[in-house]
Amino acid sequence: MRSHLFRIVFVLNIRCIYAYYQRVRIEGTLTQAIKTANLTKIFNSKLIAVNNLNLEVEEGSIFGFLGPNGAGKTTTIRILLGLLYPTAGEVTVFGEKMTPNSAGLRKRIGYLPTSPKFPPTMTPITYLNYVGKLFGLTKAERTSRLSSLTRAVDLLHSASHEIKGFSTGMITRLGLAAALLNEPDLLILDEPTLGLDPVGRKSTLDLLENLNSKKTILVSSHILSDIERICTHIGIINEGKLIYSGTIKEMKQHIKKSSIQLELDGDVTAFCDRLRSVEDIVDFERRGDFTVELSFAPNVPILRIVQNVLSIVSNEGLDLISINSSSDSIEDAFLTLLEEEESRGFLRAVEP
Ligand SMILES: Nc1ncnc2c1ncn2[C@@H]1O[C@H](COP(=O)(O)OP(=O)(O)OP(=O)(O)O)[C@@H](O)[C@H]1O
Ligand SMILES: [Mg+2]
Repeated sequence: MRSHLFRIVFVLNIRCIYAYYQRVRIEGTLTQAIKTANLTKIFNSKLIAVNNLNLEVEEGSIFGFLGPNGAGKTTTIRILLGLLYPTAGEVTVFGEKMTPNSAGLRKRIGYLPTSPKFPPTMTPITYLNYVGKLFGLTKAERTSRLSSLTRAVDLLHSASHEIKGFSTGMITRLGLAAALLNEPDLLILDEPTLGLDPVGRKSTLDLLENLNSKKTILVSSHILSDIERICTHIGIINEGKLIYSGTIKEMKQHIKKSSIQLELDGDVTAFCDRLRSVEDIVDFERRGDFTVELSFAPNVPILRIVQNVLSIVSNEGLDLISINSSSDSIEDAFLTLLEEEESRGFLRAVEP
C-alpha cells in the first residue's frame, strides 16, 4: 500500500515537473518573435556578410536594426524571411524554424524591402487587390482592408492613379499598405524612411508607432533619430556581427559619455584657465574659437559640473550661447560602440 502511494506521488510529481518544463519552454519561445542561432552567411565562399549572429526580438517590441552600409542588415532580413539560405545557423520565427519552404509562416510576416518596385501601370487599388488575392483573402476582406489601408497610409486620393507617377514617399506608403494587407503579426521593414522628406518620414514613423500595439516590428535604418523615436529595442550590427542588443535606455547607460559642450562668447582662454581649478573636470578641449568640450568622471552628478561651470562663465563675464550634454545622444552611443568594436578587432588582429 505504501509503495503504491509512493508511486502515485512520484508520478504526480513527474507530471508537475513536465508540465512546468513545457510551460517554460513554450512561454520561452513565445516571447521571442524572432530568434537566430549562430546565423552565418558567406557569399562566394569568401565574403562573410553575417557572422555568427544571435539575435532575439521580443514579441510586441519595435526593434531597430542598425548598422553602417554593408553591415549585413539586408542579408539578415532576407534570411529571416526565408528568401535566402544561411550558410550556417538557423532562424526561428514565433518558435517555428524558418526555411525557404515555410510559406505558412511567411503569411504571418509583412515585408517592406528597401526601395520597393511596383508595376508602373497598376494603381494602388489594382495592386493591393492583386496582393490580397495572392494571400487568399476573400473579396469582402479585400474590399474592407483596401479602403482602411489606403486611408491609413494616406493614399486615398491617389488610390486610382497609376503608380508610375508616384513620389518616393507614396511608393513607400504603398509598400507599407501591401506589407500590412495580410494583417501580419510581424512586420519587417528594410529602411522604410530612405529617401523620404521630413514630412514623409514623420508620417511613416507615426504610422509605425500606432501599429505597434498589435505587432512586432523589426525596422532597419541608418537614421538614428528615427530609431530612437520609435524603437523600444535596438540591435547594432557591424561587419556581420551583432555588437549590441538591448533597450535604447540600456544602450545610452552602457556607454554613457560624461561630457558637456559649451558655446561661449567672450574670453574663452580665461575661461579655460579657470576650468583647471575645477576638481571634477578630468579634461577639456577647445573646439574652434568659441566651443569648449569638457569631460568628467561618470559618477560625478552632471548638475554639480554645470553649476560650477556656469559660475565661472558668469564670473568671467562671458555669454553662454548654448550648452549640450552628449550623454543622451544615441548617435554618440552608436559611434562609440563601433569604435570599441573596431579597436577590439584591431587588438584581435595584432594579438599573437
Ligand atoms: N547576393 C550577394 N552576393 C555577394 N555579396 C553580397 C550579396 N548580397 C550582399 N552582399 C554583400 O554582403 C555584405 C552585406 O550586405 P547587406 O546588403 O546585407 O548590407 P546592409 O547592412 O543591408 O547595407 P546597406 O545599409 O547599404 O543596405 C556587403 O558587403 C554586400 O556587398
Ligand atoms: Mg540594406
